[in-house]
Amino acid sequence: MSEPSLAVEPGSVEETLLRQIDRSRLPRHVAIIMDGNGRWAGKRFLPRIEGHRAGVSAVRETVESSARLGIEVLTLYAFSIENWKRPRHEVWTLMNLLKEFLRREIRTLIDNDIQLRVLGRWRELDPSVVATLEEGLEKTAAGRRMVFNIALNYSGRCELVDACRKLVDEAAASPGRAIDEAAISGALDTAGQPDPDLLIRTSGEMRVSNFLLWQIAYSEIVVTPTLWPDFRLQHLLEAIVAFQGRERRFGGLEAPTAAPAADGPGKGGVPGELADQPLVGEPPSATAQNSIKS
Ligand code: FPP
Repeated sequence: MSEPSLAVEPGSVEETLLRQIDRSRLPRHVAIIMDGNGRWAGKRFLPRIEGHRAGVSAVRETVESSARLGIEVLTLYAFSIENWKRPRHEVWTLMNLLKEFLRREIRTLIDNDIQLRVLGRWRELDPSVVATLEEGLEKTAAGRRMVFNIALNYSGRCELVDACRKLVDEAAASPGRAIDEAAISGALDTAGQPDPDLLIRTSGEMRVSNFLLWQIAYSEIVVTPTLWPDFRLQHLLEAIVAFQGRERRFGGLEAPTAAPAADGPGKGGVPGELADQPLVGEPPSATAQNSIKS
């Protein structure tokens, strides 16, 4: 694995923001509601799908920046169950962009030790999408540097329904099985992952939109007016600076010194040890801009 570092221009906004970030208190899990693709396109008198196309560059850069920073889990909300209400052509384009992205980026994910995971009822999607996702999951399964969750055909309520069904089946097979918070966390698509410490929503909308409803119980929420296709390293760093400026009390009166209610997977909350990674690297070069490895 290469030494992660972030290439930023000396004297740039990004460098100033990086210097404000306490590397020992990075959010372990960052979840993002990518919003504003349609408005981005509308402002340019382009069809909505051009906004989604432009949004793919923001996806690529956010995955790269998060891995370089040392984020453990990045979750992007790519397609909700409610998104089926959109015109057929828009849905078709979104699915194709996803397939193209995975085909093009899979080598970069593997080379950079990033593990792809998919949240949601993705197995119900078109067989060509399912096959591309299965290939991505299989080829990146050994990745240890960062988990990259894509939420696809996802709904937080449906995820909870599916988890309840799983637990009911398990309880029927092993009577007396405890149903507690740890059991529910362990039955979700994010089983074994820390809960999001930071939830970012782009485009200024103040809604949770059925995203990770159980897991965001104690997430800090940062809403940026930036439209998703314009979201870059600067905006990710701004959100982390805002996150680090918050006092997280988890319902108590003081910030905890240890993780709250550590009763199982998905307990989330307090960051663990982070590798001592250089965050300010060399100014961007052509190669540094095109791949995650430095
Ligand atoms: C919300 O913007 C965005 C989406 C519903 C889709 C996000 C998808 C991508 C960025 C591209 C493909 C994803 C991956 C992971 C490669 P909107 O259309 O609701 O915007 P609006 O509110 O301005 O209309």
